[in-house]
This record gives sequence, C-alpha cells and structure tokens, in this order.
Amino acid sequence: MFDTLARQPDDPLLALIGLYKADERPGKVDLGVGVYRDEQGATPIFRAVKEAERRLVDGQTTKTYVGPEGDPVFLERLWDLTAGRAGRDLATAAVQTPGGSGAVRLAADLMARTGVRRIWLGLPTWPNHQAIFKAAGLEVVTFPFFDVPSQTVLFDGMMDALKGAKAGEAVLLHASCHNPTGGVLSPEQWTAVSALIANSGLLPLVDSAYQGFGKGLEADSAGLRTLLGGVPEALIAVSCSKNFGLYRERTGAIYAIAATREAAHSVRTNLAGLARTSYSMPPDHGAAVVSLILGDAALKSDWAAELETMRVRVATIRQRLAAGLARRWQVLTAIAEQEGMFSLLPLEEADVMRLRADHAIYMPGSGRINIAGLKSAEVDTVVEKFLSL
Ligand code: LMR
Repeated sequence: MFDTLARQPDDPLLALIGLYKADERPGKVDLGVGVYRDEQGATPIFRAVKEAERRLVDGQTTKTYVGPEGDPVFLERLWDLTAGRAGRDLATAAVQTPGGSGAVRLAADLMARTGVRRIWLGLPTWPNHQAIFKAAGLEVVTFPFFDVPSQTVLFDGMMDALKGAKAGEAVLLHASCHNPTGGVLSPEQWTAVSALIANSGLLPLVDSAYQGFGKGLEADSAGLRTLLGGVPEALIAVSCSKNFGLYRERTGAIYAIAATREAAHSVRTNLAGLARTSYSMPPDHGAAVVSLILGDAALKSDWAAELETMRVRVATIRQRLAAGLARRWQVLTAIAEQEGMFSLLPLEEADVMRLRADHAIYMPGSGRINIAGLKSAEVDTVVEKFLSL
C-alpha cells in the first residue's frame, strides 16, 4: 500500500540542521533554525533549568500520566508570565502542549471544530503556520505584513486587508519578535488592530514564541495585553522553547479566552479531547522545569537575568550587523530597530546558495537570518561576505 505514497520534500528549514552539521569547513556559520547561540556557538542550558532539573531528579516521586490538559500549576504560572495583570479575571481555558507548534495545531483544530473556516495570515510568516492551518482543514487567506525591499511593516495594507475579513474568521498575530522579519507593531498599532478585530467579530490567535528576546519580558507582551483588554475571545499559543532554552523538551501551552466561564469550560473540554485524539497527553519534563522556575523567586530572577543577557547579546549583534550591511544596503539600518532573533534580508535564493557554497554561511532560501546564531567575532567577516555578493 505504501507504494502509493508520493515522496515528500524535507522541511527546508529543518533540513538546514543536517546540512550544517555535515559541512566540515572550519569557520562555518549557522544562521538557520531559530535557536539561541552564545559567543562560543553553544546553545546553553539555562542555569535555572539545570538547577530545576536537579531538584526534579531528587524530588520527583512518580512518572505517572499528567492527563490531557497537563499540569494546572504550570499553566497558571506560564499564563501569569505571558499575560500578567491583563490575563487575570478572564474566563480562560488552558491546556499544556508539546511545544508552541503543538499549541498552534491545537488552536487550529479547535477553530475548525468551532466552525471557523478561514484564517488570515500576514506574509511573510513562519512557514509552518500555513502548513498547520491547512492540515487542520482551515482555508488560509493572506495579507501583506512586511515589505522586504524597504524593510517596513505594511500596517495600512494589513488594516485594509483585514477590513475584508468576515465575522467568525480568524487572524494570526505574532506577540513580538516577528518570525521571520523582526518587524515591530507600535503600541498604537496594537490598539488599532485590536479595535478592528473586536469590531469585526474576528477571532485572534496570538503566537507568543519569543517573549524576552525583543525589548524585554514585560514589553514583549504589551501588545498581547492590549489585545486582551479589547476583545471578547482570543487564542494564545505559548512556546517555552526559546526563552527557557527547552527546545527538545517540547514545552508550551494553548490558552483560550472566552466570553463566559461556561464557554471557557466547554473550550477546555474540547481542547482536552483534541489532545487525547492526537498525542493523548503532553510531555511533562519541560513543563515541570518551567513551573519550578516560575514558582521559586530566586530561580525565576536568575532565569530572567540570564535571558536578559541573551537578549542584549542579540540586540548588540543587530546593531553591528545593521551598520555593516548598511554600507551596501542603506535600508538595512532597519535591522537595528527590528527585534528578536530574525531579520529578512533582500536576497535572491541564488545569493543564499552562493553564501552557502562559497562561504559556508547557512540560512533558509527566504533570506531569513537568525542573528542569535552569530558570534561577535564573526560579524565583520560575515558582513564582508554579504557585501561581496
Ligand atoms: C524557526 O523558525 O527556526 C523555529 O521556530 C524552529 C522551527 O520549528 O521552525
């Protein structure tokens, strides 16, 4: 039977992991998949994560199932980190998920079950967004979010397009650190888009995967918090992969805000049912680590301090990269104002392939660069290679 299956291409982004690993050239540079690297090129385990793991090894008494909804204490603490005061007293349903992608998929399945037919995505976006929504049976409608040649957020175009969305349709927003462009919505723009969403009866799904890597832990949720104050219903997908460095532990959560407690209860039972028929129950380890850290003042403050040093390192590299690349592309001074791990360079795929073949610089064909993959000592050389294109 399997001979009826057509062979599928590898995921182009994830394929970079293997291609980079296999390259034996010294001085190779990985600007591919979105993982944080330090000045030694390592993706470190946070000190607080190590300490929490030690405590878990000593103190954990069982490995029994956690149930399809996961650990309510983890969910509450992560929600507090994500939404702060804006998230209190809302009718909220929460389910622990395998990573942020698991949360987006559960959100998509829930939307499909709720009767949402279409979801609006600003382009460019993380390539897996479209794939996940289509896999859940939703129709994807796109609008322009970011203009690569001028490196600007197309806010007016976005608002005009969303005026065409009908009540009952969904719209995806990135909480901060837009993937793949680093483009930022101002506080006024968050207020305006929140009002449009509320007035048009749209359902917002906010993807929060990089909190703490943009302007800081609180600032990176400010837009989301504005939205929460203005809409009756929302879905929020949260990932702990980057800001807790728990990539392979698949740690995340989906939160749904409903208009009433009864509706929130129904949403929770539906999310739990969808989880049950998909992966049954979420992995525990990463969530147990996050819960321990967020519940312990000393661990939490050490974790936040280490995350802040990562954020500052990325922001510093951004400044240097922007200054260097602007020598040829004036417009790329914008990289300094963008936030998070990514920027999207105005390169042709052929340029990307030349950088890979001639200089062992790895990035996806889109021209997205993971700035967090760059060491300070490499910036000047990498800039020269870009300028030589
Ligand atoms: C990325 O965009 O590189 C990360 O979010 C990793 C992934 O799963 O694609």
